Amino acid sequence: MRMNDRAELIQELKKTMEFYRELGFEYVPVKRTHIFNIISGSPSGSTPDSHPSRHQVAEDTCDYSMNKEIALRDLKNEIGDCHRCKLAKGRKNIVFGEGKPEADIMFIGEGPGRDEDIQARPFVGDAGKLLTNLILKLGLKREDVYIANVVKCRPPNNRNPEEDEITTCSPFVERQIAIINPKVIVCLGKISAQTLLRSKVAISKLRGNFFSYDNIPVMPTFHPAYLLRNPRDKWLTWEDMQKVMEKLK
Ligand code: URA
Repeated sequence: MRMNDRAELIQELKKTMEFYRELGFEYVPVKRTHIFNIISGSPSGSTPDSHPSRHQVAEDTCDYSMNKEIALRDLKNEIGDCHRCKLAKGRKNIVFGEGKPEADIMFIGEGPGRDEDIQARPFVGDAGKLLTNLILKLGLKREDVYIANVVKCRPPNNRNPEEDEITTCSPFVERQIAIINPKVIVCLGKISAQTLLRSKVAISKLRGNFFSYDNIPVMPTFHPAYLLRNPRDKWLTWEDMQKVMEKLK
């Protein structure tokens, strides 16, 4: 790149950043190494040093994880006091999701129930206790994973979310996935699996097999509420989770 081109590029970049700052953006998700490439004129995709130091990698990872936290916060703000679908009428709280922004495993349920609606936290009722126990039995803590739902408001009387509600709300869980970029997604139950995989196949057929969502392996398994009603099938979910843990090795 010629010197003049580079100077112009940097000027343009500065103007663009200032424009975004005036709009209220606090960051743009660009890695430090990419900025370095622009400034130094290295070809795109190459790193300043073909063997980046541990320090450099750590710095990039750190920047990126900060971004994930901010990106999730921004998404939550964007959802705001959502009235985009009819579930807003009956809910007490929006249940955005919680956990580690850099989690390797992301659990996705269907939608909040009564306890979740009250506490504004996913999977905190009876089904949630079963999920938490499962996570602990895997040698993890709830704080190590990320937990979210396809719809973020409680459907009345815990009915299944309807097609229009899923269509309106699922882009938000999809954006949570894009931000967190987990190594594996576990879909809890039919609604979650069928929504993410755009499938109509029964959960009993899907479960136990890996699928792919945006190049991320997806393991559908039974919903914990189903397991509360059918405890004899718990071992099947345990088997599914063993496959997930194997995938993470
Ligand atoms: N069931 C779900 O699908 N999600 C929750 O958060 C709680 C129960």
